[in-house]
Amino acid sequence: MRLRGAVLALWALVLAHSLPSARAADTERGRALYEGRVAMNTVGASPMSAACAACHRPSGMGNFEGGLAVPPIAGAMLFKPLDRDTARFFPASARWRVRPAYDEASLGHLLRSGVSPDGVTLPAAMPRYRLDDADLADLSAYLRTMSQGTPPGLDADTVRVATVTTPDADPQRRDAMLATLQHFVAQKNGQSRHEAKRSVQSSRTREMVMYRKFRVWQLEHWALQGEPSTWAAQLDARQSRQPVYALVAGMGGAQWAPVDAFCARHRLPCLLPLAEAGGGRAPGFYSLHFHAGIDADAAMAASRLKAQGLRRASLWGTPGPLADRVRGVFAGQGVALVDGDQEAQAIVSLLPPAAHAARLREGDHGDRAVAWLPGTHALGQAELDASLPRTPRGWIVTPMRTGEPLDRQLLRTRLWLRGQGLESVPADVAASTLQAATVLGEGLVHLDFGFTPEYLLELLEHGLENVIPWSPYPRLAIGPDQRIASKGSWVGEVREGRVDWQWQALP
Ligand code: HEC
Repeated sequence: MRLRGAVLALWALVLAHSLPSARAADTERGRALYEGRVAMNTVGASPMSAACAACHRPSGMGNFEGGLAVPPIAGAMLFKPLDRDTARFFPASARWRVRPAYDEASLGHLLRSGVSPDGVTLPAAMPRYRLDDADLADLSAYLRTMSQGTPPGLDADTVRVATVTTPDADPQRRDAMLATLQHFVAQKNGQSRHEAKRSVQSSRTREMVMYRKFRVWQLEHWALQGEPSTWAAQLDARQSRQPVYALVAGMGGAQWAPVDAFCARHRLPCLLPLAEAGGGRAPGFYSLHFHAGIDADAAMAASRLKAQGLRRASLWGTPGPLADRVRGVFAGQGVALVDGDQEAQAIVSLLPPAAHAARLREGDHGDRAVAWLPGTHALGQAELDASLPRTPRGWIVTPMRTGEPLDRQLLRTRLWLRGQGLESVPADVAASTLQAATVLGEGLVHLDFGFTPEYLLELLEHGLENVIPWSPYPRLAIGPDQRIASKGSWVGEVREGRVDWQWQALP
């Protein structure tokens, strides 16, 4: 130990002498200050949060919702004069002035005193900080990197995107997802050419800015193989070989967390996969999920069984990671799930609709309660009719619309599938896939300044509910740093073959 201490001391000495007296700015530390991972002291009463990112957002593009106009401060904008031409991109900028460019010294003056380069004192909504020169240098070095340059997977003409599938995804549904996405991309690329032509004719309007951003999509299928513990390396290798800008749609089973971790590590937007695992509680800033996933539904079902004193249920479903995952959630509530136990007091089914109905038809299940968790399979009227008459009592827990409302919702998708000659593709898979692709398309079109992934996700925080609703999941909307788009499930209570639905929000 003592030896190691001596070596460290020696190193410190060497470093101190070899460093120039003006220390080089540390961009990563600047980022940590910006995001609040390294604390900064404010002057006077501190507002709710002193982290720049809390108000100016992770992208540095500011925020105009909620009555407080927070201007963009990403370097590309801050260190340039704000003129009328630039200002017109920001909906709230009329409220605030045209100003000269900042430099490091004037930024320091503003942060310490609240006074801008042109002598305006900003309101207290912008905190004042006690910063030393190193903090200021690191912070401005980081601001200079924000919204700068082009993110990986993107160039002037193309945007490369990948869709990820995991080995436990149902092969038929995986292929249905892929076919839908490929047709969507082909259709979109056809339109982009048309719109590129229009852009030449249009005058210098906001519209033109949007058309200029149409890019040809290049779609890749990243099919993960083997154990989940190896997925991180497979994804990293793909991304380093030929990077993509975003992941879109995708199909997965009991595990999706390694993909979400990849998205956080590489700062890629990962939009709306159809995975049984869902997004869990907090999938991270870069991952957007339809739903919290099977754990949430299993917990809702387990609490119903428990409330009726049903402590032992027979499990219907393919043995494997998904069954194990659900078994774990039920065990947590004191309900044991066992395979093929004739003595069990209830049945918990993870089967897809056709298999579930077939299993109900086989054999006599007495009047045992059946809790059905169809996961990412949507239940239209036909699917309900096939199983309800054989369910004397029990529950269905599903995150999606069901019955007539679902059938109505899927009409648009069925028309699209017919137009594409894809009638054999299950409409629920196609609908969720089209939803993911449309969300990415809308996000890309609305990026006015830079294509940083952070900005894309922040735009969705404001605009997700305005994107065309294709998917069977209801009420898609997210707030700042929320990444689960539909925040609950329906619990249907089944009695004598009839079902009574109630929406239950996630806890
Ligand atoms: C509590 C919210 C909040 C936090 C935290 C915050 N800001 Fe601000 N900031 C604002 C608001 C609001 C304004 C606009 C004030 C006005 O002009 O009305 C602003 C303005 C600015 C401006 C002036 C931009 C211009 O165009 O003149 C800069 C620069 C700035 N902030 C940088 C920072 C930095 C760097 C941090 C972190 C060290 C930070 N802000 C933290 C809310 C915040």
